[in-house]
Amino acid sequence: MSGGIAAYKAAEICRRLMDAGATVSPVMTIAAKRFIGEATLSALASEPVRTSLWGGPEPIPHTRLGQSADLVVVAPATARIIGSYAAGISSDLLSATLLATRAPVLMCPAMHTEMWEHPAVAENVATLKRRGVHFVEPGVGRLAGGDLGAGRLADPADIVDAASTLLRSSRSLGGVRSLHGVRAVVTAGGTREPIDPVRYIGNRSSGRQGYAVAAELAARGALVTLVSTVASSLDAPAGVDVVEVETAMEMLASVEACLTAPGSSADLLVMTAAVADFRPAMSSDQKIKRGSGVPDVQLVANPDILAGLAQARHANNASGPLLVGFAAETVRPGGPTLEELALSKLHSKGVDVIVANDVALPRVGFGHATNAVVIVDRDGRSVEVPLTTKEKVAVAVVDAAERILLTRSLTS
Ligand code: CTP
Repeated sequence: MSGGIAAYKAAEICRRLMDAGATVSPVMTIAAKRFIGEATLSALASEPVRTSLWGGPEPIPHTRLGQSADLVVVAPATARIIGSYAAGISSDLLSATLLATRAPVLMCPAMHTEMWEHPAVAENVATLKRRGVHFVEPGVGRLAGGDLGAGRLADPADIVDAASTLLRSSRSLGGVRSLHGVRAVVTAGGTREPIDPVRYIGNRSSGRQGYAVAAELAARGALVTLVSTVASSLDAPAGVDVVEVETAMEMLASVEACLTAPGSSADLLVMTAAVADFRPAMSSDQKIKRGSGVPDVQLVANPDILAGLAQARHANNASGPLLVGFAAETVRPGGPTLEELALSKLHSKGVDVIVANDVALPRVGFGHATNAVVIVDRDGRSVEVPLTTKEKVAVAVVDAAERILLTRSLTS
């Protein structure tokens, strides 16, 4: 806890973490103690509160805390603690612990809107995100002194959810952040192809599967950019950078920019987005009035983003990111099976992994919280994931990508 009025909410976060079975060691800055009493945290947590580098029972408390933690949660995180962590400055027990840990770190900022939007704070947050630090973004609401705006500490339940996701992933991998240093780009949502300023051609994709894949990659330590058409309706997963796009052409430009960024080109692309195959040849910049008659909307083909990247990679002697595609299929009785359709798309697109689902089945894919998929890869593996949550499907998708990334790094 660092010092802000939201420190009182740390008590609830602590209780919820304890309820979820965590061992919690509270670390408070001197300023945090002005907002909430040590006794409150000591009574709720499993370990005594620590506030200082000096005078406690352990000679080097920050290294013991940092090395023994599975996860460090800073809630609330003030502009000061974000700044010192970004600059690598250790001036108290909390900032020293942050530098002494290799565990995932979850920062939960809380401050006044002006401070949260200050370019210095924004740059520090961006620096930490680039280094793989996870964030639960602050919400909009009532702030200290009665002001309204962005900067309010996220809901304790959301903070504990983000903490559990990070812990679950790093635990399931034996505490190893298996994708540490891997740069991943994930696309999510359906593209919208405008006819005029109010109408578009779109599809039923909710974007939830892509968000779950991005969250899973981030939880394993990857640096994730999510190119999303639904950024205004879904919260960014902890630690993920979101780029908002609308059309297939914008998505293509963003994905290409991420894949080729000098010095930080991506190792992995997961295309969960439902990209419109066609767009109106012309989009009117004025609303088309009913009185002007039924418009004749001519369509032109959009580029196939995934297949285009696979071709470019082929032309470049197979050097380029690992490519994972999704395939929304409808399986006809007596026709090819879902696995056969997936394999045919794997070969026709020239990608490494295809995740196929039968969208005609109940509760599968578009618009649902659940999914059922077959995952095929270029090495001949085929994994069936029966109906489950999109989060669990994301775990299987990331497992498949990770296996190939590992083989690549062993053979290169
Ligand atoms: N995709 C893409 N660009 C497009 C269309 C699709 O990158 N213009 C990607 C999707 O994000 C997905 C994969 O290609 O990862 C498969 O999309 P799908 O619509 O199932 O395939 P299509 O190539 O459109 O084939 P179909 O004829 O089956 O619709």
